[in-house]
Amino acid sequence: MANLDYLIAEAQTDFTSCVDMPALENAKAKYLGKTGALTEALKGLGKLSTEERPAAGAAINVVKQAIETALNVRREAILGATQAKQLAGESLDVTLPARAQSQGGLHPVTLTLQRIEQLFHSIGFDVATGPEIETDFYNFTALNIPENHPARAMHDTFYVDETNVLRTHTSPVQIHYMENKAPPLKIISPGRVYRVDSDATHSPMFHQVEGLWVDENVSFANLKGVVQDFLQKFFERDDLTVRFRPSFFPFTEPSAEIDMSWNGGWLEIGGCGMVHPEVFKHVNIDSEKYRGFAFGLGVERLAMLRYGVNDLRHFFNNDLHFLQQFNK
Ligand code: FA5
Repeated sequence: MANLDYLIAEAQTDFTSCVDMPALENAKAKYLGKTGALTEALKGLGKLSTEERPAAGAAINVVKQAIETALNVRREAILGATQAKQLAGESLDVTLPARAQSQGGLHPVTLTLQRIEQLFHSIGFDVATGPEIETDFYNFTALNIPENHPARAMHDTFYVDETNVLRTHTSPVQIHYMENKAPPLKIISPGRVYRVDSDATHSPMFHQVEGLWVDENVSFANLKGVVQDFLQKFFERDDLTVRFRPSFFPFTEPSAEIDMSWNGGWLEIGGCGMVHPEVFKHVNIDSEKYRGFAFGLGVERLAMLRYGVNDLRHFFNNDLHFLQQFNK
């Protein structure tokens, strides 16, 4: 049997010339494949005599192992080079500055609500809340707006069903609160309210803050003082012009609208008045002994004035450019 050592050098040269795995697999087949030189040599062993066979077999195995070693060395080299190339392509520059995270902020209406709560809290008002879906009774009847009374038409109401409405104002919280607590009472009640309304100063969902102070000697003068004081602190202006314009609410008597100077004119920001004796009757409070004042302020209107926003709908368009101005 011919000396096969020359195959080792030939295989090494072949393997070294391969630059990728498919080429190396082809080269491998030439020596170790089904019809490869070594496989053929092994097949040839059968033709040898029993004496010659072991030595020839061992010699072929030595050559085979040497070729396999050469193949493995080249395989490692090709895989190593491929991986190095891939890593170089994917390399990260960890010294690059990170992409900045944009910081969220509170919505201007939330900021306004927080400011209102904080100011009233500082003069002894508690915060009360009530449901946004109200019965007709709490939203209207208990507030001295009986069925078929024209005052119901003052609020364009979203009806949930025959007896439930989306509350049109925060005034029903007065009733819930007075039903459960005895005077003296001093609360504000912030929250969402709903009306079929939409233009630059009206939105179908908006926020009001109700105020209620019931005690033995509460007067309209107290009402004016509290509201005026609040507005001056809210806008940080001692010279602020507030106008109490005589008006009508079925649940207060006398009643007034609260207007503030705005854009050379006036903007209505709320309603107010002395709690009507009929309302006290509904909640079993003695109107001979107790008197109270109430007010309801439009929160978006206050936010518009504070931040100089000329269209209330901006607050609800979810435009980040608009909202980001208030991140403070
Ligand atoms: C009321 O809702 C009364 N409940 C207020 C009140 C409470 C009077 C207690 C007396 C005693 P009015 O409908 O005027 O009143 O609404 C109060 C304020 O809510 C308005 O002055 C205005 O600032 C705001 N407002 C009313 N409708 C809208 C609307 N569609 N969008 C935004 N703000 C509104």
